[in-house]
Amino acid sequence: MSTSFGPEHIRAIAPYQAGKPIAEVAREFGLDEAAIVKLASNENPFGMPESAKQAMLLAAAELGRYPDANGFELKQALAARYGVPADWITLGNGSNDILEIAAHAFVQQGQAVLFSQYSFAIYALAAQGVGARSIVAPAKDYGHDLDAMAAAIDADTRLIFIANPNNPTGTFIGAAEMEAFLKRVPAHVVVVLDEAYNEFLAKEDQFESSAWVRQFPNLVVSRTFSKAYGLAGLRVGFAIAQPLLTDLMNRIRQPFNVNSIAQAAAIAALNDKDFLEKGAANNSAGYQQFTEAFTALGLEYVPSHGNFVLVKVGDDDGAGARVNLALLKQGVIVRPVGSYGLPQWLRISIGLPQENAILIAALGKALAEARTA
Ligand SMILES: Cc1ncc(COP(=O)(O)O)c(C=O)c1O
Repeated sequence: MSTSFGPEHIRAIAPYQAGKPIAEVAREFGLDEAAIVKLASNENPFGMPESAKQAMLLAAAELGRYPDANGFELKQALAARYGVPADWITLGNGSNDILEIAAHAFVQQGQAVLFSQYSFAIYALAAQGVGARSIVAPAKDYGHDLDAMAAAIDADTRLIFIANPNNPTGTFIGAAEMEAFLKRVPAHVVVVLDEAYNEFLAKEDQFESSAWVRQFPNLVVSRTFSKAYGLAGLRVGFAIAQPLLTDLMNRIRQPFNVNSIAQAAAIAALNDKDFLEKGAANNSAGYQQFTEAFTALGLEYVPSHGNFVLVKVGDDDGAGARVNLALLKQGVIVRPVGSYGLPQWLRISIGLPQENAILIAALGKALAEARTA
């Protein structure tokens, strides 16, 4: 008789599929690592900012000591940047940690977590991890349908995750519509507004959502240093919320969840306006480069507000996997999104101009190969 360990809700979890690392693709396909282009995990194509590297070197001298469990300096810097008291901030080991912490802090087994179809995979995992039921509201035009989400809130719902811009689709909901939704959510239901891609928004779409935190005691705004700030490997994210929520999140958070190098690098990156501006300019140029090429190749794509584009590479449910494989053989790593219920699509991160050009040429070949396969 076989023994099964752990609770049923943990055994039911299908593990998160991360973008393939460069070294793994090199090994699998017999390729030179240096020639591989990775546009799979929405990372910053410039890598980390030089300012952060300097700060990390200094912090490395103190690694014999535990990090500051309260992240005093980083919280001060964030508080000044977002105009909130420092005790409204929770630090996370990446914003993924914030999402998990929120699920643990606000939901218990048997209650429900609501999110949209085609939204970030971690929401379902975080819900399952605490034994909660997931309520998946149908999407509209690949984005969140806020009316459908409001209608889907039931008596068990304790937490709502909304990514804005959304991953993997890149869709975005403007400030007025989002605020109207927040007003409709019952006061006892926590909303995590996941703004991992906020810094890529066009100027006219930018809205300082930390201001909503004053208005809505049930709101948690989540941000990350992994994308625009180029620190994905260090794992730093943070949440802004009123003290009642922040206090609960801090109780469940591991005391040393953000290491000292990461804290130091994040402060430097936060103040590095030039790096952010360079990234934003590269992103809008790359978006144009991609979308023009997709149009020329006759491919449908979802207009994106992030640093990636969701593009449809065929009409049958094997298309995404086939084109992905044909790209991997050419040393280009993108993100198949079959696990998101989008098997005909690929999500492609915006890279440097030359990386984008390599992707475009490889995609043309991969499409031709996939069609004749
Ligand atoms: C919408 C969204 N939220 C959160 C995250 C988590 O990122 P990190 O843990 O690196 O902050 C990601 C990463 O891809 C994301 O796409």
